[in-house]
Amino acid sequence: MDKEVIDINTFDINAEPAEMDWKNLVFGYYPTDYNVRCDFKDGKWGDIYITSSPMLDIHMAATCLHYGQEAFEGLKAHRGKDGKVRVFRMDENAKRFISSAKGICMEPLPEDIFCKMVRMVVKLNARFIPPYGTGASLYIRPLEIGMTPQVGVKAAREYSVVMFVSPVGSYFKTGFKPSKICITRQYDRVAPKGTGRYKIGGNYAASLAAGTMAHEQGYSAVLYLDPKEKKYLDECGPANFFAIKDGKYITPASDSILPSITNMSLRQLARDMGLEVEERHIAISELSEISEAAACGTAAVCSPVLEIDDLDTGDKYVISKDGKPGPVTTQLYDMLCGLKSGEVKDEHNWCEIIE
Ligand code: PLP
Ligand code: COI
Repeated sequence: MDKEVIDINTFDINAEPAEMDWKNLVFGYYPTDYNVRCDFKDGKWGDIYITSSPMLDIHMAATCLHYGQEAFEGLKAHRGKDGKVRVFRMDENAKRFISSAKGICMEPLPEDIFCKMVRMVVKLNARFIPPYGTGASLYIRPLEIGMTPQVGVKAAREYSVVMFVSPVGSYFKTGFKPSKICITRQYDRVAPKGTGRYKIGGNYAASLAAGTMAHEQGYSAVLYLDPKEKKYLDECGPANFFAIKDGKYITPASDSILPSITNMSLRQLARDMGLEVEERHIAISELSEISEAAACGTAAVCSPVLEIDDLDTGDKYVISKDGKPGPVTTQLYDMLCGLKSGEVKDEHNWCEIIE
């Protein structure tokens, strides 16, 4: 692909917002102006380059197409009340991108290149950062693919990293309104010692059939069980799961779930609020003892759970008796959103302001 000559210094993070129906954005792909890329070739990462093309030129025998050598990330930029643009914990996403790449034998992208690419892609597309108060944000999607043509099952020698952005609204259609989720033993997302802790495309392909079934039955997500014993809670569609029980923040400890950066942050915020935090196995039977529950993640933010239906046993666990988000979930949600918009003091230095 021809490299375009684009001078990032001529871009302004405070660019006039594009004409968009900001308040009604869904969580989806909206075209923006530029994406940034970096290729690994001849044993080293090259320079970051910018392009306006959304297309990739891939050999038909590339390992990403046949053997699933693909990993991705998801993080967000928010325009704050003070007009500043903040990106939340990008260093953690950079670290997890490295872990995911290593998990499927891809070349890991150094953290400093990842962070530089994030800063660039946000600034280059500043006119697509949703204005403060619209409830929308700029989703940043980094991905890495194996590019070497190969027919034998082997890792590639060449890799490409692409980072693009899309303005997005809520992931769960109900937003912060509690929704129903379901349990099923008919599908596993990942294997017990498989790839669940990596953010790789294959895990999401494996979740599509269960997710489609759940949506068709009116549920916003599947609450997966541990794939070995099917006794304990694992995670909730494209998000982690937490619950409030006896005033404690409890969340599953499991090798088959993605280590969520949102969950890690909520655990800290819960501790800051004086709550006890437990990361441990949570048996399905405990669902009758919890007072609040939510799905948490970059896309899901903190989506409260109304009811959990076990599709195999017919058990129904009503979590929110009045149909509203619980008080602890609401406080955590407000703190998290406040941090990202600059309205809550960033005690832990989680946000980077993009200039
Ligand atoms: N679990 C899965 C399977 C996910 O896709 C995501 C989204 O990234 C999460 C959990 C939440 O992770 P994070 O909070 O880092 O976005
Ligand atoms: C995220 O929360 O960043 C996700 O990746 C969730 C989903 C869109 C895959």
